[in-house]
Amino acid sequence: MTLADEVFERAARVIPGGNTRSTLFVTPHPPYAAVGDGATVVDTAGHRTIDCNNNYTALIHGHADPEILAVTAEAAVKGTAFGLPTTYEVDLAELLVARTGLQQWRFCNSGTEAVMMLIRGARAHTGRDLVVRFEGSYHGTYDGVVPVDAPGVPRSVAEASIVLPQNDVSALEGAMSRYGDRVAVVLLDLMPNRAGLTPVSTEFASAAARLATDFGALLAIDEVISFRLGVGGLHQTYGVVPDLVSLGKIIGGGYPVGAVGGRAEVLAAFSPLGDGPVSWGGTFSANPITMAAGLSAMSRYGEADVAALNARGDDLRMLLVDAGIRVNGRGSLLRLMVDDPTSTWWQLYEAGVLAGTNGLLALSTVMTDEDVDLVARRVVATLGRHTS
Ligand SMILES: Cc1ncc(COP(=O)(O)O)c(C=O)c1O
Repeated sequence: MTLADEVFERAARVIPGGNTRSTLFVTPHPPYAAVGDGATVVDTAGHRTIDCNNNYTALIHGHADPEILAVTAEAAVKGTAFGLPTTYEVDLAELLVARTGLQQWRFCNSGTEAVMMLIRGARAHTGRDLVVRFEGSYHGTYDGVVPVDAPGVPRSVAEASIVLPQNDVSALEGAMSRYGDRVAVVLLDLMPNRAGLTPVSTEFASAAARLATDFGALLAIDEVISFRLGVGGLHQTYGVVPDLVSLGKIIGGGYPVGAVGGRAEVLAAFSPLGDGPVSWGGTFSANPITMAAGLSAMSRYGEADVAALNARGDDLRMLLVDAGIRVNGRGSLLRLMVDDPTSTWWQLYEAGVLAGTNGLLALSTVMTDEDVDLVARRVVATLGRHTS
């Protein structure tokens, strides 16, 4: 029995399936991480990989970034969480306003929570119930955004969603002409990971914006994963202006985070100074450690850094494509399109590359040219001319 099997045996006795996140499970069970350092992860058995998972794209500067360690230590000695707001959240909100042009922000602890908050805000603002969303787009684990037939989701919640095919303007037009006056929000991911990390067309994004406006609904863009691709998010490259945006992952500098931003008029739904506000708490929302880490991570990921990381991702993708591998994605996010993701995941892991369980590769700024070169060589050696 390996060391990982022993940990798994212990874990499976007290945690169903041996871990807490369905998204990172691989059969028979994933290895357990022991140490992350820069671009490297070592598991409990001492196996070393180059981290192209980066906690599902969140660790934009890799592991144990010295500045993040310093600012979080400095914040922690002053207090890790308060029953009062702090200036840290004001700082991070100001940074997000400057980058996105979206007027106001609220923080929470995950992308899932951000989408929950976004939908609540949209419903409160419009006085409507329905959410239009798209097949294969993952928006977290909240009842209202998982597949409508997912176990444990009440029918009444499923019925509040209209799920349409990706990139299909006429299906969207049809649904909006039928239900548009009941739609609170059209929720769009511009490059859905679960749907193959294929960017939606500009025509589709523009149609979503136009139809939302025409029918008095809000346009929301879920940038939890795609925010790293542009200084103010991927939507800026599409030229659409969302009413609401959900963020998570990189803006927490490696700590749990979520955020909703948007037009002040819409975010006013949450203001305790207004009439009938949405009440939204969260004991650890906007905690100083996350806010300090996020501020440090984001202030060192400006326009030039975003462009440089995207260029490295584009180079890597071209190299893999030239080797006969089918790769989707854009910039610093790549998705290996393979027939058997689990066996590919293990082959890559054994070759020293930690990928996402669906073939996702996310670069970090701490990777050296040698790291990226090694990733390319290991992926090609594992998959060259064998992908679907
Ligand atoms: C587009 C999108 N929205 C929401 C989420 C949920 O975020 P979290 O895992 O932080 O709850 C994810 C997570 O991968 C995501 O990719």
